[in-house]
Amino acid sequence: MDGLDWKSESDFEIGGYTIRLSYVHGGSEAKSSGNEFALMKGKKFLQHYTSLDRMKCRKVLELGVYQGGSFVFLDQLLQPEKISAVELSTTPISALDEYVSKHSSRAKLHYGTSQDDTDRLLEIVREDFGGELDLVVDDASHFYEQTKTSFKTLFPLLRPGGTYIIEDWNWAFQDVFQSPDNDWFSVPSPANLMIDLLEDMTRNGMISGIEVYRQLWKIHRSEFKADGVFLSQGRRGRTIGVL
Ligand SMILES: C[S@@+](CC[C@H](N)C(=O)[O-])C[C@H]1O[C@@H](n2cnc3c(N)ncnc32)[C@H](O)[C@@H]1O
Repeated sequence: MDGLDWKSESDFEIGGYTIRLSYVHGGSEAKSSGNEFALMKGKKFLQHYTSLDRMKCRKVLELGVYQGGSFVFLDQLLQPEKISAVELSTTPISALDEYVSKHSSRAKLHYGTSQDDTDRLLEIVREDFGGELDLVVDDASHFYEQTKTSFKTLFPLLRPGGTYIIEDWNWAFQDVFQSPDNDWFSVPSPANLMIDLLEDMTRNGMISGIEVYRQLWKIHRSEFKADGVFLSQGRRGRTIGVL
């Protein structure tokens, strides 16, 4: 189905690296080491990446690396000209640092960088990619406001035909987060961003289409040039509900 070289239920090999799926509710403790990388994704996510057109993903930016499994997977799968990632944590992941230094002509990692640090994101896109991107993968905070800020900043920098992926948009609808006892009970769902996207799609034209899957959204960039995306202008048409 995904064309990957599976060695067991959880492990596949790509480019001489082993990627081990470690998708645990509430966060995984798995660590990467040597040529083995932990990937915090379920199996069904992978087909959304293996189906991407490699030739259209030359400049790739990832938000949120965890143990680096997705970074190595994307790099080996797409063989981009340039790949960078930002990660809020400042704790180095030695296996990933080794990987990045081995592929330093195209790979870069920015620890201690939040996905909503607009100035830093703009600087990274300018310095690492010459100002233009083909693919953004947001698998970072999964918070509505932060996800929106990254999108507002980065989507206009995608070249026409580029793709912006937002993973794990649906957590707030899951049973566990419906309980008032859950710490995230009052945290706004990132799914609210979909209404912003639809509003922007109506008014702006930079979004040519959106693919919605249970695992992620794929938002496609049109040819249309504008100053930016608007998002959340609060136009009539939005249903008033629980954030
Ligand atoms: C779901 S994990 C990423 C998993 C990884 N992409 C993978 O598939 O293996 C989320 C990561 O985002 C990082 N993160 C959380 N908030 C962030 C933020 N505001 N900016 C950047 N990274 C953030 C976390 O530290 C964590 O490493």
